[in-house]
Amino acid sequence: MKEYVCAQRCRGIEISGIRKLFEAAGPDSINMGLGQPDFDTPDHIKEGAIRAIREGKTGYTSNMGIPELREALSSKFKKENGLSYDPGQIIVTAGASEALHIIMQALIEEGDRVVFADPGFVSYGALAVLAGGRPEGIPLDSKLRINIEAAKSRMDGARMIVINSPGNPTGAVESRESIRALVEYAQDTGVTVVSDEVYEHFLYGSSHHSAALFGEDVITVNAASKTYAMTGWRLGYLAGPGEYTEQCLKVHQYCQACATSISQYAALAGYTGPQKCVGVMRDEYRKRRDYLYAELRKMGFSFPLPEGAFYLFVPMKRNLLEKILKKGVIIVPGDAFGCNAPEYARMSYAASMENLKTAVERIRAAAGE
Ligand SMILES: Cc1ncc(COP(=O)(O)O)c(C=O)c1O
Repeated sequence: MKEYVCAQRCRGIEISGIRKLFEAAGPDSINMGLGQPDFDTPDHIKEGAIRAIREGKTGYTSNMGIPELREALSSKFKKENGLSYDPGQIIVTAGASEALHIIMQALIEEGDRVVFADPGFVSYGALAVLAGGRPEGIPLDSKLRINIEAAKSRMDGARMIVINSPGNPTGAVESRESIRALVEYAQDTGVTVVSDEVYEHFLYGSSHHSAALFGEDVITVNAASKTYAMTGWRLGYLAGPGEYTEQCLKVHQYCQACATSISQYAALAGYTGPQKCVGVMRDEYRKRRDYLYAELRKMGFSFPLPEGAFYLFVPMKRNLLEKILKKGVIIVPGDAFGCNAPEYARMSYAASMENLKTAVERIRAAAGE
């Protein structure tokens, strides 16, 4: 029989556990497993795309992205993040996912260690392995934030640390002092910081602090995906020192050529248009977070109130999680996000209030069995 041989670096990673759950979901399931806004993309952004199609802006763009969008992103960095990135230091990508991928491909040598929070976003480890690196998790403290001392010990001799605040799957927000401490230690020890800031606008009390405020060897990753409810448009970007972006651009050029032209014009309408839509979504997420958190506390679950993103990360025995899944509420087991949180579940509240109410009833019923 013919043997179909695939590369070990690909065979060595698993298909995301989250996808498998969706495939198993029944028709009346309530989906609290998704890492995407349940809002529609705002109209003025859709109009930007429609205009681009009508005007025939449907060809390849410059590899780095259309100059108008990179100008707009440079202004956004200045205004919202206090960062000075020249448009020439910004690459527009197919979502934050591609940005993370090309960074790893451009910077990681065989065997390099890449450290990040465990539990953490599913892609960091897989992308590090695909680039020949060795992922290593940093344990969290009781508030689900990065344990700084553990992070420092893991950074020694590492090539890269990925910081993600507000964080997926925990919703935790790192303090300004913690981000500063992590970045400064990284700079002192020659570790590059990648700061994944895709949830920067979904904060319910604290402010956002970009890692690049505290050091030079930092690459900032962001996207229109969560900010403007545009996950399917696949529009992200990275910004960093020119030496890095030059190498990242080569990978981007050969694997992607450019981000979708239409999505770039849509994002241009997003970044240069009214920002009220973002505040409306944030207020709605906050209401849902407060509701879900209060209901879960009433049921006896005990965990810190997450200050950002749109996830609750709830300590939960596996048999209860399975009962909840059987009742048709999709939540994601903690072990999908690393090794350190098997007895947890991630619940996304990027679902309508009506669905959250039904989910709460079902969870209560499962917990009472
Ligand atoms: C922390 C984090 N980074 C990056 C991404 C990927 O974003 P995009 O859809 O822009 O590729 C996600 C998506 O869930 C995420 O949660």
